[in-house]
Amino acid sequence: MCGIVGYVGDDNCVRVLVDGLKRLDYRGYDSAGIAYFNNGKLNIIKEEGKLSNLINSVDLNTKSNIGIGHTRWATHGLANKDNAHPHKTGKFTIVHNGIIENYDEIKKDLIKKGYRFVSETDTEVISALLDYLYTKEKNILNVINKLNYFLKGSYALGIICDDDKETLYTLKKNSPLIIGVCDGKNFIASDVPAILNKTKKYVVLEDNDYAKITRNKVEIFNNGRKKDFVVKEFEYDDLSIDKHGYEHFMLKEINEQPEVFKKTTNPYLKDDLDGLLKKMPDFTKYKCIRIVACGSATHAGLIGKQMIEKYANTEVNVETASEFRYKKQFLKDDELVIVISQSGETADTLEALKIAKENGNDTLGIINEKGSTIAREAKMVLYTEAGKEIAVATTKAYSAQVAMLSLIALNLSLKKDLIDKTEIKEILQDVKKLPDYMQELLNDRELYKKIANDIKCYNDVFFIGREVDYALAQEGSLKLKEISYTHSEAYAAGELKHGTISLIEEGTPVVAIVTDDSVAPKTISNIKEVKSRGAYVICVTNKTDVDNDDFYDEIVKIPRVNDLFEPLLAVIPLQLISYELAKIKGCSIDKPKNLAKSVTVE
Ligand code: G6P
Repeated sequence: MCGIVGYVGDDNCVRVLVDGLKRLDYRGYDSAGIAYFNNGKLNIIKEEGKLSNLINSVDLNTKSNIGIGHTRWATHGLANKDNAHPHKTGKFTIVHNGIIENYDEIKKDLIKKGYRFVSETDTEVISALLDYLYTKEKNILNVINKLNYFLKGSYALGIICDDDKETLYTLKKNSPLIIGVCDGKNFIASDVPAILNKTKKYVVLEDNDYAKITRNKVEIFNNGRKKDFVVKEFEYDDLSIDKHGYEHFMLKEINEQPEVFKKTTNPYLKDDLDGLLKKMPDFTKYKCIRIVACGSATHAGLIGKQMIEKYANTEVNVETASEFRYKKQFLKDDELVIVISQSGETADTLEALKIAKENGNDTLGIINEKGSTIAREAKMVLYTEAGKEIAVATTKAYSAQVAMLSLIALNLSLKKDLIDKTEIKEILQDVKKLPDYMQELLNDRELYKKIANDIKCYNDVFFIGREVDYALAQEGSLKLKEISYTHSEAYAAGELKHGTISLIEEGTPVVAIVTDDSVAPKTISNIKEVKSRGAYVICVTNKTDVDNDDFYDEIVKIPRVNDLFEPLLAVIPLQLISYELAKIKGCSIDKPKNLAKSVTVE
């Protein structure tokens, strides 16, 4: 993986490819390359590192009308020029996203047949296999279809062939790919934003689909048969992938959270509960819920667990998709499986969803990207309304997931008649006030800068909390690690004394989250334990009676709202402290090293 773009048409192809790759670079990568035909001759240019290295090596004025480009996030083999895509064998040049699980087997077989490999990648095996199959049967479309029978794993492919210099070919399975459609020119890309400044019209390929694309025609096939297809119109405009004056996409996205909260909750909760009761599916038939996700989406799930168990008295278990897949799942007949994903393309989450479906369980996707693979595969979908998220580290999409889970908890609670009228009234009022409260916290930049400065010299930071605050601590710790490269651990506050407290030294930063009244006194005792061992304590709290206490060094006060929505406030200081620290340390905030936005490999 990570980003594919391909073009055929009258415009300057090299510029289109470079521009498309630039627009996909938010997904994270470590090398890049393009291949194009120029006067009938194929040129391949690849470079290690940033796209600027590639741009310095290409002549942007080269005349070309067809080509493919790729940003690579290394999986098989080092992040170097040899392993960068495109790869060419014989007559076929390809770019690939995904992982070929049986590449070693195929490679050995092809070596016996006389093929030599110059890279360590699984991708080069595909170009060699294509070339080999083509020597047997001189029909490009047929041999592309045959890949489906030979390859195991995931693949989205952009393919050009020396024998047909006017056509772009593609094939996809278990890895996303779209075809961008326009008059007199057509595109392929792993995501619509790559081509959004050229066209908003696109076609989503299904698994095992392959396509033949010329400047005036798109033909899609599956298993030897031509298919009808639907051309969709992308709902976001190009402006949504602009920083709008913010220094980083991450900062812009953190600041969009009040608006995202309104958009996500408005259809369900406005002045009354009508929307919530009518528009959400009925979950009362499920005895228990399993939430499966990756990364921050799992952390959102952990908050959802707290909310659903507390408000709806329904048991919820949360699992990491990459673990869930390979263990005994013990799914019960009346268990709902909720998968949470911003991109809707995360490979492990998708596989977890398939397992749940095969087991006969009902599935619900909480998804941000409309029409993504997981959104299409899940039985029911609730869309978060975070809009396009560009920064690799998620912020607004995470909080939209949390908001949606709180709505589910409230919906279940209402339907099970577990919540009283006074609390409902209070919740409706809080929902109205929340965007302003969020804004107040967003405005407190100076405090977060000060805290970031205070902790910048320390290599290890601890985040502690209990229950919902522990779930928040996990997300806070992940954000800090992801973007500021500062090692940190999230601990259930009561667990510290079972070993890790030995790592607390004079000045060790400890971020303590105290929002849950039911466990606050216990957490405060744990904070005192670390404080008395020299910790520098930053307390993020909604408590109003701690002003004169001395168990913290710095306090971040958050407004008090109903517990259902409190995490949406508490997470903002955590996001912004990480952001400010990453800025002080000069880190690549929107594209942290080694991370990718959409993880389409297992
Ligand atoms: C990657 C991203 C994380 C994200 C995770 C799950 O690791 O860097 O920010 O939480 O994938 O992504 P998803 O799109 O499924 O929410």
